Amino acid sequence: MASIRNLAVDPPLILAPMAGITDSPFRRIVRSLGGCGLVSMEFVSSEAITRGVEAEHAKLPFHEEERPISIQVYGSEPWRMAEAARVAQDMGADVVDVNMGCPANKILKGCAGAALMGDLGRARLIVAAIRAAVTAPLTVKFRSGLRATELNYLELGRIAQEEGADAVTLHPRTARQQYSGRADWRQIAELVEALSIPVIGNGDVQAPGDALRMFAETGCAMVMIGRAVLRNPWIFRQAADLLKTGRYEEPPLDERFAVIRRHFRILASELEGHELLHKLKVFTGKYTHGLPGGRKLRGRLTAINDPHQLLREVEQFLDERLAGTGG
Ligand SMILES: Cc1cc2nc3c(=O)[nH]c(=O)nc-3n(C[C@H](O)[C@H](O)[C@H](O)COP(=O)(O)O)c2cc1C
Repeated sequence: MASIRNLAVDPPLILAPMAGITDSPFRRIVRSLGGCGLVSMEFVSSEAITRGVEAEHAKLPFHEEERPISIQVYGSEPWRMAEAARVAQDMGADVVDVNMGCPANKILKGCAGAALMGDLGRARLIVAAIRAAVTAPLTVKFRSGLRATELNYLELGRIAQEEGADAVTLHPRTARQQYSGRADWRQIAELVEALSIPVIGNGDVQAPGDALRMFAETGCAMVMIGRAVLRNPWIFRQAADLLKTGRYEEPPLDERFAVIRRHFRILASELEGHELLHKLKVFTGKYTHGLPGGRKLRGRLTAINDPHQLLREVEQFLDERLAGTGG
C-alpha cells in the first residue's frame, strides 16, 4: 500500500493543490464522492502566516471528514517557511507540503514557488528548516526546472530526499511552459529510478485510465490529479474502481447534478457577496463545460452580480436539463 512515511494513502490517488479551487467546500465534495486517498489545501503564504495576516490563517481550518489532508506552504525565507509549516502541523495537517513549482510571476518575483528551482541552495535550506521544525510527513512539489535548458528535477529531488522529505511530487513541465505542451511522464519515471522515497506523479491525468497508465509507465507510488477533477469530481472514485476491478461507471445525470447543487448549497451557506458570486461563477463554468446549453448559460451569468440570482439561474438550468427541455 502506498504511504508517505507512516501515513497510508489509500487509494494512492491525491487531489492536487489548486489556489482558488481546493477550499474546504470543494475538498468535502471530493471526499464525499470517494476514491481519493489524500486531499490538498490551496497553498498558503509563509510570509502572510508569519505576519499574522488573518485572511491567510482563515484558509487553514478544515473539517475532520476531509482527512487525510495536506497543507502546502510557499515562500522564500527558510525561517518563515519553517514557522508556517509548524502552524500547519499545529492545525492538524496530516502532511506538510512545500511549493517549489508555482510558475506565476507574482510568486516567482518573491523568489518563491518555481523560482526555488533556480536557487537550489535556498531550496535545500528551506527543506532542512522545515524538517527541523515539524515531525509531520513532509513532501516537496516541483516542476522539471525553470526552462527547458535548465532541467534540474533530479537534483532537486535528491536534495529534498537528503534533507528529510518523505515523498516528492513532480509535475513534469517547466515553469516557463506554465500549462502548455504536454507533461513529460518519462521524467517521472527517471525520478522514481533516482530516489528511494516515494514519487507522486502529476500532470495531464484527464481520465481514469490515464491514472493507470501513469502508474504503469512511470512506476510512481501515487498519482496526483488537478484540473480534471473540476470537470469530473468522480474521477477518483472511477480511477480507484478501475485499479481494483478493472472497470468503472459514469454517474447518471441526476447524481451529477445533485452534487453540483450540494456543492453550491455549501458555498451559499458559508460565503456571501462578491466572494460567493466569484466562486459560483468559477465552478459553474467548470461543471457546465460540455453540457448542452452550457455555453449560453455561462454567457448569461457574466452579467449577473447577485449570487442568489445566479443560484436560481443555475437551478433552473439543471432542472431543464434533467427534464430534457431548454437548450
Ligand atoms: C487553478 C490552479 C491552481 C493551482 N494552484 C496550485 C497551488 O496552489 N500549488 C501547487 O503546487 N500547484 C498548483 N497548481 C498546479 C496543480 O497542483 C498541478 O500541479 C497541475 O495542475 C498539473 O496537474 P493536472 O494536469 O492534473 O491539472 C494549480 C493549478 C491550477 C489549474
